Amino acid sequence: MSRAVLYEAFGGPEVLELRDVPEPHAGPGEVRVRVAAAGLNPMDWIISSQPQVAAQFGIIVPSGFGSDLAGAVDEVGDGVTGFAVGDRVYGGALGRAVADLVVLRPSVDSLWHTPEGLDDEVAATLAVAGATASAALAAIGLRSGDTVLVGGAAGGVGVLATQLATLAGATVIGTASEGTFEFLRRLGAEPVAHGPGLADRVRALAPAGVSAATDLFGTETAEAALTLGVAPERISTIAAGPNPPGGVRPTGGSEAAPGAVERIADAIVAGRISVPVAGSFPLEQIREAVTLQAGRRVHGKIVVTLR
Ligand SMILES: NC(=O)c1ccc[n+]([C@@H]2O[C@H](COP(=O)([O-])OP(=O)(O)OC[C@H]3O[C@@H](n4cnc5c(N)ncnc54)[C@H](OP(=O)(O)O)[C@@H]3O)[C@@H](O)[C@H]2O)c1
Repeated sequence: MSRAVLYEAFGGPEVLELRDVPEPHAGPGEVRVRVAAAGLNPMDWIISSQPQVAAQFGIIVPSGFGSDLAGAVDEVGDGVTGFAVGDRVYGGALGRAVADLVVLRPSVDSLWHTPEGLDDEVAATLAVAGATASAALAAIGLRSGDTVLVGGAAGGVGVLATQLATLAGATVIGTASEGTFEFLRRLGAEPVAHGPGLADRVRALAPAGVSAATDLFGTETAEAALTLGVAPERISTIAAGPNPPGGVRPTGGSEAAPGAVERIADAIVAGRISVPVAGSFPLEQIREAVTLQAGRRVHGKIVVTLR
């Protein structure tokens, strides 16, 4: 037997159960990963609490939970190339990542080799947030010399987008609550409070103007950027659905360029980017971890550890 987080009905963190389940095995074209850490994303609790969203991802109850993971390959099915027993890996397994043993299909699921020097807790945070941060900046053609407004800059996607933008030579103004300002400064961003009057506050911080924006929370930052005269094609949003206002660009992790997540992993190993871990919870505390994530006040990433 092995352990897995499951839910049989949609609802809040209280529906999540840690259960003993039969060990899954790798069939043809599959590998089995012994999970060391699983990173959480808002999508995880949104799916487990909203059946209509779950349906969009093809998830029905009973279901496993979580998406991002890191660990080591411990079984390899026939026909798999590029992965061997013992390889350290990280990636994504939608709706089943928070479990001791997870079977993935490398031809379909995201699965990468973990570089030397990257620990499992950090590797487990990268699949969704890394791909999404990269896509959000690529969608606006971010370039050196830009002044970019990042909405929700301290969240899981925001901490990576902020650092990627800074590394690319942009000046970052990031929205956050006032208590988060020092945290954002340490990531290289100039903080600004979200909420009514955002465009005026940004104008005061950047009298020469803002050239691009990415909204990682909703529509407020996108709307402020439009008010500030940023062209819609230089504004992206990851959290406003497929038809955001004002012709700004919707994007998401599925649009990340090949290699985007691996490049972030390499930048972490090289010490150019860091992933602030806002909370690390043992598997038994999955409900506490999800409650914290669902509070929308996370600064960095939340990780669940399995060994
Ligand atoms: N399309 C995709 O592929 C994709 C992928 C990943 C995520 N998403 C979505 O993108 C959003 C962000 O994901 P995430 O993982 O970064 O979330 P997260 O970690 O939960 O974001 C938390 C952050 O949101 C900030 N925040 C709270 N209220 C805010 C407000 N009114 N305006 C601006 N920021 C606010 C908080 O900052 P303070 O505490 O300082 O206020 C906190 O740092 C979520 O809605 C998620 O579902 C979409």
